[in-house]
Amino acid sequence: MLDILLGLQFGDEGKGKIIDLLTPEYDYVARFQGGPNAGHTLYLDDNKYVLHQIPSGIFHKKQICVIGNGVILNPLILLNEINKLNHLDLNIENRLIISDKINLILPTHILLDKWNEEQREIETGQKIGSTLKGISPTYKDKYSRNGLRICDIFSFNFKDKVNKLVQIHKQLLPNEYLNNLDNEIEIFIESCNELKKYNIQPIEILLNNELKKGKSILAEGAQGSMLDIDFGTYPYVTSSSTTSGGACVGLGISPIWVNKVIGVFKAYTTRVGNGDFPTELLDEIGEKLVKSGNEFGSTTGRKRRCGWLDLVQLNYTCLINGVTDLIMTKIDVLNDFEEIKLCNKYDKNGIPDYLTFNGWNNNINNRMMYIKFIESELKINISKVSIGTGRNDFINNN
Ligand code: IMP
Ligand code: MG
Repeated sequence: MLDILLGLQFGDEGKGKIIDLLTPEYDYVARFQGGPNAGHTLYLDDNKYVLHQIPSGIFHKKQICVIGNGVILNPLILLNEINKLNHLDLNIENRLIISDKINLILPTHILLDKWNEEQREIETGQKIGSTLKGISPTYKDKYSRNGLRICDIFSFNFKDKVNKLVQIHKQLLPNEYLNNLDNEIEIFIESCNELKKYNIQPIEILLNNELKKGKSILAEGAQGSMLDIDFGTYPYVTSSSTTSGGACVGLGISPIWVNKVIGVFKAYTTRVGNGDFPTELLDEIGEKLVKSGNEFGSTTGRKRRCGWLDLVQLNYTCLINGVTDLIMTKIDVLNDFEEIKLCNKYDKNGIPDYLTFNGWNNNINNRMMYIKFIESELKINISKVSIGTGRNDFINNN
């Protein structure tokens, strides 16, 4: 059976921590889209770990972690991440399986990302606010059928293939971007060689066969539904399908196996990068959320934009994902707010209408009223509420 876990807002809902919590219930944890733009944060024994490419199930020793075909991969970032985890003895070489069909992020994709953003700012006055990890240029090459896949690293003329693509990219870039390029390409090719020792295979065959044997898989989404290439706030979105259908495509698993769709959302809303955000708070309350929630991007360090919870948005993302279970995170961040607002509809001009709740200052009844109200509006059970950063900071709400 396949359960899918994904974010219902603009990313950074706390998916990493939830995946880590749920992993013991599954045989496999599999990332299905996105790339190192993701930053899944986990705190273990007071140590902070941020995963960009490795699935968040890696801290449990039994489960196999899979990087699916829908993901795009920066070999250098993956290897660095593996190195950083070395001291934990997680047996990563035997527990990580990488799809042979993954598209590779080249150094020039990263340069193109930066260049495209600069051009966009000149032309439209506003950047997307990309993480500059090369995400959009790599997916663009994938769909235009020019991309390099990880299976290519085994071919005798891999180097030529890289150079051919780099030549195409160079024509699109200004000269001042190309200074250190040869060196970067060399490091890229070395990293690709180093990847050969990992388990690279057609994961769609493996996973479907394992499902037939009764094994269970947790699909790990990255970013959030409002950043989905189709359903997000286009063009201020990422370049992959972050919604539940993306899990089947990004792992090659038939939809007949889908059991639960677990939607994760924060008790308020945050967004990094530009684009529509109706409930954004540009005042001191917003600043207080930044501080209490430590709302700084885990991939880029940028300050996150903060605002109240938007139920109109959550209703939409629950609908399109077919969410069956909800998990709410970071409710502790709201602990010492005098009042807490929540948008449950927009007026005819598209301006959010708010309901006001009493703050709870650890008054559990007030906190429960907030949770119950959201549950009743979305008509989906909130099974868990996260109340802190640690592995065990949860309340079960059944
Ligand atoms: P890109 O995915 O780097 O192209 O960035 C596109 C938009 O998605 C920007 O607004 C980014 O800030 C946002 N974004 C991408 N990945 C994440 C993530 O993992 N968490 C939150 N926002 C993200
Ligand atoms: Mg994140």
